[in-house]
Amino acid sequence: MIVLAGVIVIGALFIRENVIATRLLRADPDTLNSDLRLKRLAISRGAPIFHSRCASCHGDHGEGDPSRGFPNLTDKDWLYGEGQVSDIERVVDYGIRAPNPKSWNMVIMPALATPDPGGEKGLQPLSPDDIDDVTNYLMQVEHRPHDRAAAARGEVIYQTRGACYDCHGADAGGDSAIGAPNLADHIWLYGDGSRAAIFQSIARGRHGMCPAWIKILRPAQIREVAVYAHSLSDARAAGKVN
Ligand code: HEC
Ligand code: HEC
Repeated sequence: MIVLAGVIVIGALFIRENVIATRLLRADPDTLNSDLRLKRLAISRGAPIFHSRCASCHGDHGEGDPSRGFPNLTDKDWLYGEGQVSDIERVVDYGIRAPNPKSWNMVIMPALATPDPGGEKGLQPLSPDDIDDVTNYLMQVEHRPHDRAAAARGEVIYQTRGACYDCHGADAGGDSAIGAPNLADHIWLYGDGSRAAIFQSIARGRHGMCPAWIKILRPAQIREVAVYAHSLSDARAAGKVN
């Protein structure tokens, strides 16, 4: 009798799991606000997945770690797309520069102080003085203290042989179709936005990688963790976390 009751309970739990997973996967991830119960359920189930799979890089509260190039997921600044649940889910599925054929991997930040920075356009290296000039230009873009003559030289490099404009945009506003960060918004993926950190990014290049989870997590888990990650920036916008 006890065994039978046990089997029934386990069976019922199994069915409930499947019903929730099916409902979540059938829903449009970007309009979950219209089904708040389902959204809350997804958030509560996504939280432990986030803490076991993502927090080691993105931080316990999604705050990121600029000393290692791990982006903050609680701000409204997104490398790819607009931070909708579907955008996040795509990143979680296939990763960024991960060993998966569908991974986001459109462009990389060239190492411009190396003899062969590469890139499709066959970029030429920049000298340390050139890099210092471009750094001054980026300081000017953010209205921070800079050397005006150096910034003027840096702007020319930015818009011509440095090819910076090509990825980051002529206004340095970034391009979320290719994962090129905004350089004008005072939000830095790498380091504290100091001259030294910016210089490093330009001189040595950057190659951030987010793993692909499609072969590790079940589809419903991926949606749950994406809904949870999305809720982190919602919570911040609502002033619940800083
Ligand atoms: C090994 C470290 C690592 C782990 C683990 C990891 N990520 Fe990432 N993630 C990164 C890095 C690095 C980037 C930035 C890649 C780049 O520079 O383009 C990133 C980018 C992202 C982005 C894009 C952020 C933006 O601003 O557009 C999202 C969303 C994301 N990760 C979600 C997750 C979720 C959810 C998990 C857990 C399932 C996870 N990541 C696990 C390192 C990690
Ligand atoms: C081929 C495209 C491409 C070109 C050309 C390029 N970048 Fe980048 N840049 C990127 C990408 C992509 C990233 C993000 C790297 C990552 O996520 O790991 C980046 C990152 C950066 C960062 C770090 C941003 C942060 O938030 O920490 C700086 C600074 C930067 N680029 C400046 C420049 C400058 C200045 C030039 C021109 C001399 C330049 N880039 C040329 C694609 C490019």
